[in-house]
Amino acid sequence: MSRVSLSRYLIEQTRSHNTPADLRFLIEVVARACKEISHAVSKGALGGVLGSMGTENVQGEVQKKLDVISNEILLEANEWGGHLAGMASEEMDNAYQIPGQYPKGAYLLVFDPLDGSSNIDVNVSVGTIFSVLRCPDKYVEQTGSLDEQAFLQPGTEQVAAGYAIYGPQTMLVLTLGDGVMGFTLDREMGSFVLTHENMKVPASTAEFAINMSNQRHWEEPVKRYVAELLAGKEGPLEKNYNMRWIAAMVADVHRILTRGGVFMYPRDAREPEKPGKLRLMYEANPMSMLIEQAGGAATNGHQRILDIQPESLHQRVAVFLGSKDEVERVTGYHKG
Ligand code: AHG
Ligand code: MN
Ligand code: MN
Ligand code: MN
Repeated sequence: MSRVSLSRYLIEQTRSHNTPADLRFLIEVVARACKEISHAVSKGALGGVLGSMGTENVQGEVQKKLDVISNEILLEANEWGGHLAGMASEEMDNAYQIPGQYPKGAYLLVFDPLDGSSNIDVNVSVGTIFSVLRCPDKYVEQTGSLDEQAFLQPGTEQVAAGYAIYGPQTMLVLTLGDGVMGFTLDREMGSFVLTHENMKVPASTAEFAINMSNQRHWEEPVKRYVAELLAGKEGPLEKNYNMRWIAAMVADVHRILTRGGVFMYPRDAREPEKPGKLRLMYEANPMSMLIEQAGGAATNGHQRILDIQPESLHQRVAVFLGSKDEVERVTGYHKG
């Protein structure tokens, strides 16, 4: 059987669903950048890429060397192609302007260049998350600087979303709004090959992911739901659950897309002004689009994540995503 490469999949999407050529090019460029990041990650200590930069990002997190390297790889790969009007990232305070010498395009790219960076130094899976939006016309025509406003669109407006996972295998998981496709990197050939067609999240599950060490700081509905999961067969859910926490959203979501489960990062009473840890625009939105495209659900406990109107680039949000039945239950507890 002939292998379907990422390029072939994208070209066939152009034929069958009128995927614009510049969007196809954008995805190919992001995939190429992810290959480069994968290579840097895999070098580890030999490449001198482990450890911290000694700097902080806009959210006050210490930047790892690979956070910064991955951000630069994505910027350099994407700035000259003419397909983007601008970029934004976890590792940059403000929107990134396409340098004046390059043409501007119709799309905006928002990314978490390296997700799960606390895992890097211990050789556990990390990833890259990305979201593609259309740039509103008034900003495309504008010759001057692109401001943050152009990016502040709800997740329902995403035209594509995906992640790369750098694990035992490097994979690219992608949606263009027509299902979720998983591609595995063939390192010798240097190409992503379609290996996981139409990934689906089963509606029910017996596996959950949450950082249990924060339990005492959660809100009541989350405490109640997790207590029921822990009560197992003897509890109201009458089923034993298993727990996993990789501490890299990409890896936890990848497991859920592969075998089901529910992932939670709730609001935390220690920082009442923050609605959660994860970032809406480059973590929660792209992952929610993937999960919904795979038949699952994603909410902040009160509403669908994709419906939230963002107010700032680095806005945080509580996240409950994965198997539909479980997400509906914990969301229901917030309402009840
Ligand atoms: P990032 O490394 O991009 O800052 O994201 C880290 C996030 C996410 O990947 C993960 O789910 C979560 O932080 C882990 O949080 P804990 O440290 O509370 O386990
Ligand atoms: Mn970070
Ligand atoms: Mn992240
Ligand atoms: Mn990150």
